[in-house]
Amino acid sequence: MSAQSIRDTLVRAGYEFVQLEPRIPDAKASWSPDVVAWAADAGGTLVPWAVVETKKQYAAVQPEAGLPALARARDLLGTVDHYVVVNDTEWFRADPGIQRLERVDGPIPPPNGGEGEITDVDLASSLISEDLWKTAFRARDRGAPVVDYVWADAQLTHGGLRTATGARLPITNEVLWQASRRSIVDFERRSKEAGIYTSPKVVAQAVAQLAGPRLTWDLLDPFCGAGSFLWEAIDYAQEHRTGLNTVLGYDINVRTAEVARAIGNAAPVPVEIVAADALSADLPLSTCVVSAPPFGLRVPEHHELLDGSSTRDGDLIVLDRILRLLGSGGRAVLHMPVGVTFRSTGEQYRRFLASRFRIAAILGLPSGAVAGTGIRSVLMVIDDAPSTDTFVAQLGEDWESQLAPGGAALEAALAHIDGPRP
Ligand SMILES: C[S@@+](CC[C@H](N)C(=O)[O-])C[C@H]1O[C@@H](n2cnc3c(N)ncnc32)[C@H](O)[C@@H]1O
Repeated sequence: MSAQSIRDTLVRAGYEFVQLEPRIPDAKASWSPDVVAWAADAGGTLVPWAVVETKKQYAAVQPEAGLPALARARDLLGTVDHYVVVNDTEWFRADPGIQRLERVDGPIPPPNGGEGEITDVDLASSLISEDLWKTAFRARDRGAPVVDYVWADAQLTHGGLRTATGARLPITNEVLWQASRRSIVDFERRSKEAGIYTSPKVVAQAVAQLAGPRLTWDLLDPFCGAGSFLWEAIDYAQEHRTGLNTVLGYDINVRTAEVARAIGNAAPVPVEIVAADALSADLPLSTCVVSAPPFGLRVPEHHELLDGSSTRDGDLIVLDRILRLLGSGGRAVLHMPVGVTFRSTGEQYRRFLASRFRIAAILGLPSGAVAGTGIRSVLMVIDDAPSTDTFVAQLGEDWESQLAPGGAALEAALAHIDGPRP
């Protein structure tokens, strides 16, 4: 309760956003300041401005005992104003060097105002997470079904992130985009109702690089999950100004599609997410398709493949579906189970693919690249183009560094696929 009354005092003094015992990324896990109040700096950006250490006064304890913690907070957070509050009511302000304390009536109002623009992704993520958990608990108390993703629209349409005091602080689109992805996926992973699977970030980033120059207009992921392939591709397209204009994702799971839609709302390009079966829905042809389709899908009926053969092999059916969605001259970058490259049932179909498409690259990944399973997998790059040599590599234990931006295997694959990049 005491920290709460200090928070109220700070809010009355003009601070809009006050954190109690916030986690400090660079500090040892065991330490956090008692109270941090954020305010605008001279440029209008929201920064940690004031820190408060609380003390109960007993005979042997002086307010000065709070000075070392204030100095530590200043070093970690760059705060400007520092206080010790004794017995919840007596305020002491530190001098700029945090050597001495002076008794004051209360906190000095923030000189540039308490409302500033959020530019810090960590802060934005923690605000969104706080909001998500609160909404989840409220929904649970009412017996309502889980989380209402309407909040995501609200964040955007009301022009800011909601703080615990109810204030809305403006946020840059870029920060909202990065923070939404982080906090929503993290929330989903930790919530009881979770069931979504997200591809490892390094795989999603490699897929974006491999798609790279083909991210020129429209992008489709027919099995998008929480959408990480789409989001990394959008980041690539923004950074390299490739002209990506329309992003479309499908997922058969309604809740997973909601998660992707909530994230997509904050994206810097228009994103549409549809909850539907990508095997039967009417999907548009696309210049670029990225996807980690479900592995080993059980399909009750035979499907006819592009070469005229018929199969119930779910992996081949999914691959065939994706290639049918590829527009003229388009590119597919796929994360598939390794079986599609050697299983005997697919031999005839593979021969057909090698003659009809350009299988530009196959990168074999060891088990571990599909979280929670021992399945080995491949990254495949397939162009709607005349066939040429295929770049083939089998990655080992160090697959993550090989696939990371600048990694040897990724660079070699990129050089083969599209030639040297500027
Ligand atoms: C491997 S996950 C995709 C993960 C995604 N790359 C990510 O990082 O978030 C495959 C997704 O395909 C979805 N799925 C399975 N069958 C589907 C179908 N017939 N149509 C559309 N989506 C389907 C699953 O719900 C699952 O979310």
